[in-house]
Amino acid sequence: MSENILLKMNHIRKEFPGVLALKDVSFELKAGEVHALLGENGAGKSTLIKILGGIYSSDAGEIVINGQVATIDKVQDAQTHGISVIHQELVLVPHMTVAENIYLGREPTKRGSRFVDFKKMNRDAKEILDPFNLDFKPTDLVSNLTIAQQQMVEIIKALSFNARILVMDEPTSSLSEKDVDFLFDNIRKLKKANVGIIYISHRMSELMQIADRITVIRDGEYIGTRSSNETNNDELIAMMVGRQLTNYYTRTFGNPQEKVLEVKNLNAGSFLKDISFHLNSGEILGFAGLVGAGRSELMKCIFGIDPITSGEIYVENEMVTIKNPLEATKLGIALVPESRKSEALFPEQSVQYNITIKSLDEFIKGIRVNHSKEGAITREYVEKMDVRTPSFNQLVGKLSGGNQQKVVVGRWLATKPKILIFDEPTRGVDVGAKAEIYSIMNDLVKEGVAIIMISSELPEVINMSDRVVVMSNGRITGCLPREDLTQEKIMHYATQFVFT
Ligand SMILES: Nc1ncnc2c1ncn2[C@@H]1O[C@H](COP(=O)(O)OP(=O)(O)OP(=O)(O)O)[C@@H](O)[C@H]1O
Ligand SMILES: [Mg+2]
Repeated sequence: MSENILLKMNHIRKEFPGVLALKDVSFELKAGEVHALLGENGAGKSTLIKILGGIYSSDAGEIVINGQVATIDKVQDAQTHGISVIHQELVLVPHMTVAENIYLGREPTKRGSRFVDFKKMNRDAKEILDPFNLDFKPTDLVSNLTIAQQQMVEIIKALSFNARILVMDEPTSSLSEKDVDFLFDNIRKLKKANVGIIYISHRMSELMQIADRITVIRDGEYIGTRSSNETNNDELIAMMVGRQLTNYYTRTFGNPQEKVLEVKNLNAGSFLKDISFHLNSGEILGFAGLVGAGRSELMKCIFGIDPITSGEIYVENEMVTIKNPLEATKLGIALVPESRKSEALFPEQSVQYNITIKSLDEFIKGIRVNHSKEGAITREYVEKMDVRTPSFNQLVGKLSGGNQQKVVVGRWLATKPKILIFDEPTRGVDVGAKAEIYSIMNDLVKEGVAIIMISSELPEVINMSDRVVVMSNGRITGCLPREDLTQEKIMHYATQFVFT
């Protein structure tokens, strides 16, 4: 048995200023297995992976690969040892093409010269991409791709190294079911080829489906390892949070009241066509669809980020033209965007700055900032969202991925909106924090706030929504009332128009 152990990480310790991220964590990976790492936001998963990938060095402990102690001080060392990592934060270069990103640092050169052979590079990239049936080209700029497409590029890039150890830190956080299935097919092929895979995800159902073993860490400590067919969700969650957690979905349904938002025959760009729907106060309106269906694009139009070509928008029965997000905010609309890194966060600024930036009006009197109020708002939303941070002054870029997401959600809640648009609100947050976000949404609709929730996790849409609008290919293909919400029905509408 022991001969097929690919990797051992023994007694790893890592301290950041003010944070002991890993205390004494050990982890083992066999050839041909998918070994999941599970833990709450901030538990230390990404830190462990960054140590393996040569991004951080550990303070203590050793890494053993194929029975030999390995020194991994930089990213190239990891690659030399056959380790390929997909990091949680996408690290593609936006102004480069897909092919340039895939071959970054190992570009093919023209024979006898140091010039990059772009023709060959694009050809090679096409060869790698072709089997995946993707809707973008090697020559497309990464900045023009959706988050899900970028995630696919990361995955394919990692696969292209022919690694023996493949690490995926939340590879599916913005993928829809179809893409996840596709990824899992590829993972199963890699398993057959004896590659060892470390897999991090907060989607429990996924872990149960793909993982052979699951190791849980909590607050930087090793808690235990289970084989996935001998454990269950409840046991794993109890290991993660250190207690039993019941009722993750706490939605209570009331009576949605008057119309607060109505969109009539909206067209935008060349993609969004003839969109009509309405939203009531006191309801959660789910938006389902495959990735690329146009849901985020639509919300950006409503929020004034992108222009519309024709159509009408009514807020509380008054026709409005929303030219920019500031106007949207003044009308009581808030948008928590999908991509926290590029659209939302100021990583080099403090937790306090990031939380209060949109509600500044509330406490700026003249030009003097009311610091005590600023602190009070920060405290309220750090507590409400359970943001794990050593202080309000911590730079947001240093929080764990899930805690960054909680900061963005807190910021928009602090504006006390009437209409709240959530684009994948629970992406990357752990089960406990998910329950927090659901219960906050529940409280908000009870107070009469109207919520739009885009989500690619069907159980989440079904459990949380009063009604669900389904989009496909830039159009609305269905609107389902609560009693009709099933995965099959949603998928039926989500796959219409796909081949037009
Ligand atoms: N560069 C850094 N500087 C300071 N603290 C850091 C840094 N990177 C991580 N930390 C802290 O180390 C702890 C572990 O973070 P890590 O990113 O490993 O968590 P995680 O398990 O990946 O969480 P998530 O599920 O939210 O992604 C957190 O408290 C985090 O704030
Ligand atoms: Mg992480």
